[in-house]
Amino acid sequence: MKRKHPAKDHNRMTKHSFLVLNGPNLSRLGKREPEIYGCLGLDDINRGLADAFPDITFEFYQSEYEGALLEKLFECEDKGSVDGIILNAGAFTHYSVALRDAISAIRIPVIEVHLSNIYAREEFRRHSVISEVCAGVISGFGSLSYHLGVQALMAKAAEKSSEGKC
Ligand code: DQA
Repeated sequence: MKRKHPAKDHNRMTKHSFLVLNGPNLSRLGKREPEIYGCLGLDDINRGLADAFPDITFEFYQSEYEGALLEKLFECEDKGSVDGIILNAGAFTHYSVALRDAISAIRIPVIEVHLSNIYAREEFRRHSVISEVCAGVISGFGSLSYHLGVQALMAKAAEKSSEGKC
């Protein structure tokens, strides 16, 4: 259970700020194995999110490097700049203990998303080392996985703001 970030009070907050964080090879979407990952590029997916959720302020970030992803997570934590993170960690999902530790070290809720259904693919993709420290996992819905991730974060924030009011 993550502690609440002091900079974020969901009772008072009206506008959400979410980080959409993508890891290695996701810059190649649209060109990369379209039969698995679809025809949309990462820019198309990001634009689709901004269009679908005009009331949310998005920050979009992608890197091929593990350390850069960690630094982005810590930057968001230290600045209190976002109140939720949608993360497609790409292949780091399956083996990056460093990424898992970084997610554990921050208080911002993280939703793990995948375009493909990792549980219906090769054996090595069926295990995620980050799922345990994420607020939830969405896998297998193509670009819709990101949209569902945003909805999950919104639902989590609403749940928080009504905590103890049942
Ligand atoms: C992925 C699944 C991973 O196994 C793979 O390494 C990726 C993309 C997905 O979105 O389906 O790069 O995270």
